Amino acid sequence: MFRAIRYRLLFMYLLVLGTILSVFALSVRIVFEHNRIDQLTEDLTTIADAATRELQYEDGKLKVDSDFSDKDLKNRDRSLQWFDSHGKLIVTLGMTFPTVPVALDRKGKSSSIQGHIQSVTLPITSNDGHRIGFARASQSLQAIDKTIDQLNWGLGSGIFVAIFLSGIGGIWLTSQAMQPIERSFAQLQQFTSDASHELRSPLTAIKNNAAVALKYPAGMRSSDRQKFEAIISAANQITQLTSDLLLLARVDRSKLQTQVHQLNSILEELIQQLRPQLDDKALQLNQNLMAGLTVAGDAPQLSRLFRNLLENAIQYTPNGGQIGINTVFYRKYIQVSIEDTGIGIAPADINKIFDRFWQADSARSYHSGGSGLGLAIARAIANHHNGLISVTSHLNKGSTFTVRLPVAKHKLI
Ligand SMILES: Nc1ncnc2c1ncn2[C@@H]1O[C@H](COP(=O)(O)OP(=O)(O)OP(=O)(O)O)[C@@H](O)[C@H]1O
Ligand SMILES: [Mg+2]
Repeated sequence: MFRAIRYRLLFMYLLVLGTILSVFALSVRIVFEHNRIDQLTEDLTTIADAATRELQYEDGKLKVDSDFSDKDLKNRDRSLQWFDSHGKLIVTLGMTFPTVPVALDRKGKSSSIQGHIQSVTLPITSNDGHRIGFARASQSLQAIDKTIDQLNWGLGSGIFVAIFLSGIGGIWLTSQAMQPIERSFAQLQQFTSDASHELRSPLTAIKNNAAVALKYPAGMRSSDRQKFEAIISAANQITQLTSDLLLLARVDRSKLQTQVHQLNSILEELIQQLRPQLDDKALQLNQNLMAGLTVAGDAPQLSRLFRNLLENAIQYTPNGGQIGINTVFYRKYIQVSIEDTGIGIAPADINKIFDRFWQADSARSYHSGGSGLGLAIARAIANHHNGLISVTSHLNKGSTFTVRLPVAKHKLI
């Protein structure tokens, strides 16, 4: 039980940590990318600005007289271009990127990323204030892409390592956090176990004394006799309750036995024991038991698990109804289902039925002496055997309880 809580706690912890780290990494990546692009735009603006001064009219023609070195520009993956006022390309220095039209608003600078090329285009005006052309500085974003890829890898592997290390730390942390809870739970179980154990002797004394009184009824008034019978019946109920509590407290703490048992012999013996109750209510039992199935564990506990389910099916099914018991095996587990055509369980109650002491109001008229521990015990035993118990039910139609237990070894005949 605590192992599942521990895993859930660890999973939640890692999920929260993973989410925080991912958001952090994403923010770092976005800020980094923006900074790099802003920085590049600034650099390209400076270059384009310098280039605007290198286009001049000479003898009525536009001429470029540039100090920029073609080689230097190529080395840096850059390109410089001059256009006339109609956007026609005049000169290119450095890399040759696909020429995109000069899309410039009338006011001035335009900066754009197209096809992984970042460009800054500036207008060039003559001394008399006329636009004579444009200068464009461009750079491939390959280098930035590479740096961002490296950053992605760095952040990704950083998150992975952080989660891995946190997972190891988390295992230790969750075990530390669970220790006080486990301790209190163990103390509570110990108390229940001790109290149930201590109650046994006085209960036996009460029962025995009442039985002795009933053994010599001479001179006893009939009303007194009824009182002694009531004392014995109440003492029996409390004895059953204390032994159920004792069993519940001990199931979790007992070591799981590995003896292998024939499932059919456990079930058939139970059916034989419950036959009188089935006959009393004229219930029809349909059994469909697969041969050769085996389970590992504690035979009395397993028998108790199926007894509780079968008794419920009998108790909560009106006279003349039907009860089915089916076994089947899948690759890794065997499945026992016990179905009835009884009173069923309301959808709102279905999650409560495995709680200790819970009983539906409608069920009390069918089974007045119950304490509501039967299914809690069944689930504790199933869990203790690494199994699962589940239920489907329709009110006034019937219920099916399904137990899955790991296969010990199967043999089909
Ligand atoms: N087969 C069933 N059909 C309808 N209701 C059921 C069935 N099995 C269990 N329930 C409901 O679940 C409740 C809890 O069952 P559980 O076996 O734990 O206690 P109980 O039968 O009332 O008493 P106990 O088993 O301790 O004698 C029952 O009171 C009943 O309301
Ligand atoms: Mg019951």
